[in-house]
Amino acid sequence: MDQQRRLIDKLQETSQLAKEEWVALIQNRNQDAAQYLFEKARRLQHQYFGNKIYTRGLIEFTNYCKNDCYYCGIRRSNKKAQRYRLSREQIMECCQDGYGLGFRTFVLQGGEDGWFTQEALEELVDTIKTTYPDCAVTLSLGERSRESYEGLFRAGADRYLLRHETADEAHYESLHPKELSAERRKQCLWDLKEIGYQTGTGFMVGSPGQTPQHLAEDLLFIRELQPHMVGIGPFIPHHDTPFAAEKEGTVELTLFLTGLLRLMLPKALLPATTALGTIDPSGREKAILAGANVVMPNLSPTSVRKKYELYDNKICTGDEAAECRNCLNQRMEKIGYQLITDRGDYGCNCSKG
Ligand code: 5AD
Ligand code: FES
Repeated sequence: MDQQRRLIDKLQETSQLAKEEWVALIQNRNQDAAQYLFEKARRLQHQYFGNKIYTRGLIEFTNYCKNDCYYCGIRRSNKKAQRYRLSREQIMECCQDGYGLGFRTFVLQGGEDGWFTQEALEELVDTIKTTYPDCAVTLSLGERSRESYEGLFRAGADRYLLRHETADEAHYESLHPKELSAERRKQCLWDLKEIGYQTGTGFMVGSPGQTPQHLAEDLLFIRELQPHMVGIGPFIPHHDTPFAAEKEGTVELTLFLTGLLRLMLPKALLPATTALGTIDPSGREKAILAGANVVMPNLSPTSVRKKYELYDNKICTGDEAAECRNCLNQRMEKIGYQLITDRGDYGCNCSKG
């Protein structure tokens, strides 16, 4: 048996590999290995989730951000970004629409925007949880103090998404201004987990300067953190950022890593990301067939969707996208899967249809 298959078998049996093994697996990957990997990944996905795909309604409620990450279209230095904030009423309307469409998880995602105070955020979480007691609230608000995370958790937030972006410190420094560090980012993730959030991390695939060694470090960090969710998507350049001329990540590598994550964390929630759907019209379907089991359609008002432009050509921002859920429903059914109306918590495979 060839080395690739052997490493994939070992990963499945032991849920881990040594750094050099990760590097070898990633560096020497080929189509045969990918097919072998995806079959195993799909078997695990079916074992734990059947043909059910969880959905989360994404509400991008502010694109103001105090950070200046070199890759991101809403970085503070991008003076061309048209900034917006949704009001509490607008956010509640998104939830109402979303609830009617069958969403039982709302993801509040935004830039690091001090305009929303701790108190305002706690109140918002509380209002959503009181109005929709059968729903989960996921926050994706970037780096905050441990006390802030604790307060939001007490207010009722269930989950938190914060991608580590890259586990390698030097690589992290090449993607971010000096006030941000990989160490601080990782500490936030440990805090979130300890507080009791279902915690999601993740990284961009093909970010400038990324090597197989960096990816191996990402996988080792994820193995150590044991997150409940891992979101990965290709890096896509944004024309008004310092990385405008950089190459985008590939579908092929993103899918391969999705398969590896499914083998390493069989029960994890792995989204088929919008970024992947952006560089390939059937990217999200391919991700599901490589082991992903979550989709996160946009619930933001269509009037602001174009403004939350982290990267160029982001899909689901036009008028046609008013009902991403239906669109995704059809897409999933075509490949034999089904979107479900369920909170979709980690570790719960009692999926109701
Ligand atoms: N391409 C792909 N993904 C990006 N993100 C930010 N900018 C880009 C980009 N140019 C991702 C980051 C961030 C998440 C919200 O979006 O990984 O954590
Ligand atoms: Fe948004 Fe298809 S998923 S339009």
